[in-house]
Amino acid sequence: MNKLGAAIVGCGSISGVHLKALSGLELAELKLVVDTDEELAKRTAEQYGCEYTTDYKELFGRSDVQVVHLCTPHFLHSPMAVELLAAGKHVLTEKPMAENKAAAARLIEAAENSQDAQLGVIFQNRYNPASQLLKQYVDQNRLGKLLCMKGLVTWFRDAGYYKTAWKGKWATEGGGVLINQAIHTLDLIQWLGGEISSIKGSVSTDSLEGVIEVEDSAHALIRFTSGARAIFYATNAYLKNSPVELEVVFEQGTLYMRGDYLYLQQDGEETLLCEPAVNDLGEKSYWGVSHTVQIRDFYEHVLAGNKFWIDAREGVKAVNIVMDIYESSRLQKEVPFAVTLS
Ligand SMILES: NC(=O)c1ccc[n+]([C@@H]2O[C@H](COP(=O)([O-])OP(=O)(O)OC[C@H]3O[C@@H](n4cnc5c(N)ncnc54)[C@H](O)[C@@H]3O)[C@@H](O)[C@H]2O)c1
Repeated sequence: MNKLGAAIVGCGSISGVHLKALSGLELAELKLVVDTDEELAKRTAEQYGCEYTTDYKELFGRSDVQVVHLCTPHFLHSPMAVELLAAGKHVLTEKPMAENKAAAARLIEAAENSQDAQLGVIFQNRYNPASQLLKQYVDQNRLGKLLCMKGLVTWFRDAGYYKTAWKGKWATEGGGVLINQAIHTLDLIQWLGGEISSIKGSVSTDSLEGVIEVEDSAHALIRFTSGARAIFYATNAYLKNSPVELEVVFEQGTLYMRGDYLYLQQDGEETLLCEPAVNDLGEKSYWGVSHTVQIRDFYEHVLAGNKFWIDAREGVKAVNIVMDIYESSRLQKEVPFAVTLS
């Protein structure tokens, strides 16, 4: 087989990025889109020339669909993926893979029990040229030991954003700025920093108290078993979606990422190492530009019968960081990483 039949579940905001990526991917053929909002499903199907349905369970019996993209609200990722994997479908789910640790554990079990079907988790920012270069510096020890990191996500989400029924609620979104917006940067921090030993964090609702149940602001100290540490701040209470900033300090220099730009600071000089790739998908700039690259990579792995690298065990790491910040905030103390099930 040199092409896989694809379906998308959830035709909301992010689905356009998946749909456009699939239109340009010779390894995939879009067969079906699914949304409980029938008008939206129908409109999307007309635009992309495929069938539509309102019930994702129809996918179980569709032998022409091998890969299912989950672009649904957070609380639906784990149960939908568990069922689809059991039906033999490869699943590429949007982040986060689950809205809490228990749901993530169910998905890990399903992915690991699945004979052939693979689970991939979207963390497209790992594919950004700046992130890839950062990772090379760490893996190749090019500036000596990694000592510390600083991550900043300062974005704007107002009450209007939270009018979407599933957002802003613990049961359906699983959290606020941390699990939805900042999870990408937390994932990069753990990807670069390696094994985490403990987390001390605090969350608050600074701007949208009374509007959302969940936090709109958070900070944390993340300690790694290597002795390195990261400090992290995220908020949706700013009035601008500023480029994400990530500073990575090594023994012999500092790498500073701002959006898609990467700079090397060494011996009092700053050198530009990486500029943004062209975004021709109409993606919001703060979503990054790399969905297309990750989606292609997933299809290539599946077609070659190779294990996809951002799998359930990899996807759960950022979920665990988010949940441990909540736990630490609740207990008001440092917590060992990924120990509790809450
Ligand atoms: N990777 C990124 O940068 C990025 C960016 C934006 C959103 N996302 C993620 O994408 C996912 C969706 O976010 P969104 O902003 O597109 O949400 P959205 O609310 O705009 O879209 C979700 C869609 O799912 C549909 N839906 C709900 N229940 C369904 C069901 N049972 N069956 C079929 N369809 C159902 C809704 O009708 C809606 O159209 C979330 O996990 C979000 O975190 C990722």
